[in-house]
Amino acid sequence: MSAPSGDVAERAAAGFTDQYGGQATGRWAAPGRVNLIGEHTDYNDGFVLPFALPMRTVVAADRQDDERWTVWSELSDETISFGADDVAEPGRVTGWGAYVAGVVWALREAGHVVPGARLAIASDVPLGSGLSSSAALESAVLAALLDLGGLDLAPERQPRLAQRAENVYVGAPTGIMDQSAVIRCRAGYALFLDCRDESVEQIPFDLDAAGLAVLVIDSRAPHRHADGEYAARRRSCEAGAKALGVAALRDVTVDQLDSALARLDDEETRRRVRHVVTEDQRVLDTVALLRAGRVRDIGPLLTASHVSMRDDFEITVPEIDTAVEAALSAGALGARMTGGGFGGCVLALVETDRVEAVAAAVTAAYAERGFTAPTTVPVLPAPGATRLH
Ligand code: GLA
Repeated sequence: MSAPSGDVAERAAAGFTDQYGGQATGRWAAPGRVNLIGEHTDYNDGFVLPFALPMRTVVAADRQDDERWTVWSELSDETISFGADDVAEPGRVTGWGAYVAGVVWALREAGHVVPGARLAIASDVPLGSGLSSSAALESAVLAALLDLGGLDLAPERQPRLAQRAENVYVGAPTGIMDQSAVIRCRAGYALFLDCRDESVEQIPFDLDAAGLAVLVIDSRAPHRHADGEYAARRRSCEAGAKALGVAALRDVTVDQLDSALARLDDEETRRRVRHVVTEDQRVLDTVALLRAGRVRDIGPLLTASHVSMRDDFEITVPEIDTAVEAALSAGALGARMTGGGFGGCVLALVETDRVEAVAAAVTAAYAERGFTAPTTVPVLPAPGATRLH
């Protein structure tokens, strides 16, 4: 998880001045996220419990009079520019610029008059690690354009718009979790989101007070076929819901699970359905424990979630399973893959004084198996998207 040196907000502001001269009107930040529990439940109208990371993407920007958007990013040290024609329909801007153009497109499609702008982007959110660098980018750009244009879009409606940018303009069939987390999370809390009606409850997640830490372990595993496999999991879930005659798998409760499974012919669909139904229940159980202040007791639920992703949803890879097993052997209270799967990150709930031992155990297990060394960082729940002052 290495990042360029210097504060990310300062890098965005300095990048703006280098590229365009003068000072940006403002800076807007949006974080990456980890999902504490509730994986592949969002597109099944279910429950998720993410929290925002301290790593952020920052956009420094000013408004321009013409309908043109010029964007520099420190990640590729490249400047792109697009006009109204390019955001008339999806697909014209590609690469990382599509996430920016997609937000302009989605705002215009929703009837907003989007101001032209010059933007400079810096980020500490690692790319391709499953920590929602794309939602962070979309949400920081959205915050900037809303403010610069004086546009009125209530915070609870912003995630859908950013998701539309990603689903339709970029073309990735993701659910509503990432943008909701990045926009709606608060420091010190996990966000309990009902993905059916998008209602939220901020759940206190005070790791410090409990003497605990969440260690995020980047597996460094290459994302193998992640996009195609993600879409395949969605299709299986939709097929399961259809066969069971429900609008979404969220409508099947754990009590109904055995009889639901007995009605499915296909063994693979049965496993996919079992993951989603039990995972929704694990989110509810985790929320109940956190509401009762029993943070350390959520460990077994995290690990059960991992086992379900590994055996039933089949979205883990050897590097990920190795990290979970090594963390648990070294005393983690619970550990699981977080995010879409096929690589990305593992989170482990650990006693504060075991953080280094757990990180060392994972690193040693990787070395033994000849995997690329993982990176590890302890994190606390950070704020969602905001304007910086
Ligand atoms: C990715 C997607 C989310 C969600 C997770 C799995 O992060 O972007 O919408 O489906 O995978 O929980």
